[in-house]
Amino acid sequence: MSIYLDHSATTPVSETVREAIQAVLTTHYGNPSSLHRMGLQAEKAMRTARNVIASSLNVNEKNVIFTSGGTEANNLAILGSIRKERGRLITTAFEHPSVLNVMMMLEKEGYDVVYLEVDALGQIDMASLSEALTPKTQLVSIMHTNNEIGSLQPIETIGSMIEKYNQSNGTKVKFHVDAVQAYGKTPIDIPAFGIDLLTISSHKINGLKGTGALICREGIDVKPRTFGGGQERGIRPGTENVVGIVAFGAAAKEACEKMNEHTAHVALLKKCLLEKLADEPGIRVNGEAPQTPYILSLSFEGVKGEVLLHSLEMSGIYVSTGSACNSKKNQFSHVLSAIKLPEKQIEGTIRVSFSALNTIEEIDLAASEMLKIYKMLLKMMKRR
Ligand SMILES: Cc1ncc(COP(=O)(O)O)c(C=O)c1O
Repeated sequence: MSIYLDHSATTPVSETVREAIQAVLTTHYGNPSSLHRMGLQAEKAMRTARNVIASSLNVNEKNVIFTSGGTEANNLAILGSIRKERGRLITTAFEHPSVLNVMMMLEKEGYDVVYLEVDALGQIDMASLSEALTPKTQLVSIMHTNNEIGSLQPIETIGSMIEKYNQSNGTKVKFHVDAVQAYGKTPIDIPAFGIDLLTISSHKINGLKGTGALICREGIDVKPRTFGGGQERGIRPGTENVVGIVAFGAAAKEACEKMNEHTAHVALLKKCLLEKLADEPGIRVNGEAPQTPYILSLSFEGVKGEVLLHSLEMSGIYVSTGSACNSKKNQFSHVLSAIKLPEKQIEGTIRVSFSALNTIEEIDLAASEMLKIYKMLLKMMKRR
């Protein structure tokens, strides 16, 4: 038996995606920059994917810049937006490391980086953001959905605040959103939300690992960080990962078309798991609404998250402690620290992340295993 509940780390490739990449693997293997028919076929396949992604976010296809993943897109958004004069950059204390580590590097180079705090629910304070905006601000980078606790930021309100600030002050503050955990799960309209740059990643929505994109609003460009041929309008040169891009297009189409159906199903799974665990006083939910139904952070008092994770693994249930990127580093999650969870609670935290592929039966089983294992671990701890 295997119950996979770690979809925020990565997802399996869907059947639709598998079928879509078959043609690229077998016949459309030309270089999309080649002028002959084989090249044009690859270019056409890539263009279909570009169009699907562009229209799902209400931008023109030329505004989709394919990258090697969310990490590269976040790096490109920030490093390609900053200006030489050391101005201000605003972000939050609980961004993904692919944003935070770039910001920390820029801080060392003399940029004035503001890390907005988040409250116990994982929400930024809009007044603090408003106060942090200055005429020297170059970029605001705020994630849509947090990858560890699933909290959502009011992206439209932030976008409109920045637009108003720019209009009143004649400034050009850019707004970047890391939407890796949001894309394909909730509607995003780049111009309507006032977003200038948006990061997305394919392997979180049943595509392949190693493909992502930075989406720019019309009129907003970023400076390249790597140099080569003219691919991706010269902003991200290098022969494109055609298989990955085609897979991304197929995954995006499927996710966006089935968004409502998937969200309703996943919300039911989360509700069901929470109901089953509700009577156990040692289990606490971290962060509450506004929250994505796809992610659930749970703290089990008196046990270590890692021990719980491996015990669940022995029963064929796969969850994570914090995010996959941090979990091997053996340090406290910066996200759980940012929401000021006491150390003891952080130690006993696991993340459960669902997908539409999970069933109610799986959740029932996972819940009973969690309760059984938790009680067993508590007993063992007491005997020590
Ligand atoms: C919020 C967020 N941003 C960025 C990334 C990085 O994306 P990728 O794995 O495609 O590099 C992740 C991956 O977990 C993420 O959750």
